[in-house]
Amino acid sequence: MGAINAVANLAVEGEIGILILNSPPVNALSHQVRAAIVEGMQLAIDNAAIKAIVLICEGKTFIAGADITELGKPPQSPSLVEVEDSIENSPKPVIAAIHGTALGGGLEVALCCHYRVAVPSAKCGLPEVNLGLLPGAGGTQRLPRIVGPELALEMVTSGKHVDAKTSLAAGLVDEIVPEGDLRGGAVAFAKKVIAEKRPLRKVRDLNDKVVAARGKPEIFAEFRKANARRFRGFLAPEYNIRTIEAAVSLPFAAGLQLEHKLFMELMGGTQSAAQRYVFFAERQVWKIPDVPEDTPTIPIKKVGIVGAGTMGGGISMNFANVGIPVTIVEMKQDALERGLGVIRKNYERSTKSGRLTMADVDKRMGLLTGTLNLEALADCDLVIEAIFENMDVKKDVFGKLDKIVKQGAILASNTSALDLNEIATAVQRPQFVIGLHFFSPANVMRLLEVVRGAKTSKPVIATSMQLAKKIGKIAALVGVCPGFVGNRILYARSLQANAMLMEGAMPWDIDKVLYDFGLPMGPFAMSDLAGLDLGWIKEKSKSSTIREVLCEKDRRGQKTGAGFYDYDEQRNARPSPVTEQIIKDFAAKSGNTPRKISEEEILERCTYAMINEGAKILEEGIAIRPSDIDIVWINGYGWPVYRGGPMFYGDTVGLKNVVAKLKEYGPRMGKDFTISPLLEKLAAEGRRFQDLK
Ligand code: 3HC
Repeated sequence: MGAINAVANLAVEGEIGILILNSPPVNALSHQVRAAIVEGMQLAIDNAAIKAIVLICEGKTFIAGADITELGKPPQSPSLVEVEDSIENSPKPVIAAIHGTALGGGLEVALCCHYRVAVPSAKCGLPEVNLGLLPGAGGTQRLPRIVGPELALEMVTSGKHVDAKTSLAAGLVDEIVPEGDLRGGAVAFAKKVIAEKRPLRKVRDLNDKVVAARGKPEIFAEFRKANARRFRGFLAPEYNIRTIEAAVSLPFAAGLQLEHKLFMELMGGTQSAAQRYVFFAERQVWKIPDVPEDTPTIPIKKVGIVGAGTMGGGISMNFANVGIPVTIVEMKQDALERGLGVIRKNYERSTKSGRLTMADVDKRMGLLTGTLNLEALADCDLVIEAIFENMDVKKDVFGKLDKIVKQGAILASNTSALDLNEIATAVQRPQFVIGLHFFSPANVMRLLEVVRGAKTSKPVIATSMQLAKKIGKIAALVGVCPGFVGNRILYARSLQANAMLMEGAMPWDIDKVLYDFGLPMGPFAMSDLAGLDLGWIKEKSKSSTIREVLCEKDRRGQKTGAGFYDYDEQRNARPSPVTEQIIKDFAAKSGNTPRKISEEEILERCTYAMINEGAKILEEGIAIRPSDIDIVWINGYGWPVYRGGPMFYGDTVGLKNVVAKLKEYGPRMGKDFTISPLLEKLAAEGRRFQDLK
């Protein structure tokens, strides 16, 4: 076996040359890997004994794409296209041997091989769209030539990985080889290619499937229409569609040219920069500087939940979904039955969409035990309190749990805003107390804020993060402050939104600006959805806020058919003259003369207040890094990923500009508003949040 460089070897087995890449963690196409492939191909071609070449990878996966850390930097030869040419133009057949995931540039390289074999667990995909890109090394022109434009459209715009079986059926893979013997299977296949004198099949020359779709623009029109909601605001899906259209209507070389042009456009844009940033942010968020990866964890075999309401029920489902038994405690039998009934209904809904079978539902329900007895939680490894937001009641529950639940178990609170440190004073083991702030609906939303109290131990933190991963969440570790990271920033935005109502904007004006910015809805539509009566008590209502007056008029949000908006039977929102009058009356009472507020001002005051609050959160050490704040807002509140989160957005606007505008708005920002010293400092130094290390 001959070493090519630090990441590759060429082995010779009879007539077969085996080019083996080994560049952990995912064999990405770094400069070194690209150089190794070009050199390895040449060596194999020059070696007269070799009649066919197998390209295979060590480690857990076939090439998982271009090296994302190199994207956007000046290109270094050999380029990916040179790599591909060295394979596609080889006079000897090249066979890609795929395990793990052949993704992006990895699949594009495989598509330049003359044949592809894969193990049953392998997956193929072109996930560039998730990085705000399109496959830029011929993938958009080769994939439809093999699998047809319909599947190609779906793959490039969703980025989803397709399994080996589907790949085989679509022609993307020529043969499935035994799971444990990829190398043996690939070599056997290569021998067959030689023995049967199979041609050097180049995907670029296969035209049947694209020609069949030529002159059928409806394929693309319908696809765009069907996915308009999914693609809203994103550039990359549309660009990907255009390349597949080009594959159908243009010769291969012209299609490649268009692909390159559109790829470069996306690569130079803010959206891709944001999405690449988020790719790394999603991976960084798990890393906690003072809680190393080898921190011991507590085995969680049984979970207890206090409260079978919407939150408690949703949280329970997360654990039942991964096979962990859950005991749910309620105060009254009817509330318990209602809670368990809602869970069952949620599961049954999933059977309609085909995601679960009835057997799955029964299995998951079988893992849930309802009880009225707190004592039943004694042997749980983790208990999560999910009752209503009242400090005294929470402390009372924690005091009881402390006496009941076995030592060594974690006692967690799902509070979304209360002081976790105060809750921890109710127990004798504050080091085992942590916040697990799930977002509603807890069985759906991806975000989990893991709240570290002053005394929370490192194993408790490590266990919580690991558990979050197990139940499919993305977790951000945050510190204790009112509202933690997500709701604190939400509150800063609400202050501006409400202030602007007093100055002359209507709820729908503000909501529209934020919706157009890319959020799923604005603050007032969100309040209507959540219910305006959260925390509202009829007897104590004094018509002192717009919200109170709305509730007093039984406009309590979507559920009563009216809130800030009026709703029809299908829950479509319409601006409400009643709300408008209430707002105008309040504004008049406060002595404000209404003015026209520009869309620019609405956007800047809302988002810059968020950026400013994020900077304060960093100053106080409540979040570990700016990108963690972005992860919270993307996954918990629907901040558009193509804008990278509020902190990244601040960087793209320029922190100097943010500060200048905040100063310009001055008193309008509110009498208690202050600019974060960290934000001012970064702005003055011309630095970005991303530069904070
Ligand atoms: N480039 C650079 N680093 C990469 C990488 C890539 N393409 N893919 C993964 N990594 C790094 C991750 O950042 C992570 O680093 P860390 O350990 O320091 O945090 C490490 O590899 C392991 O990654 P994961 O934690 O994601 O490991 P998993 O086992 O969960 O997932 C995977 C493996 C499915 C391969 C996943 O990493 C993945 O989806 N990677 C991205 C694939 C991709 O987007 N490819 C397209 C790239 S763009 C392209 O090819 C352009 C071309 O068309 C020109």
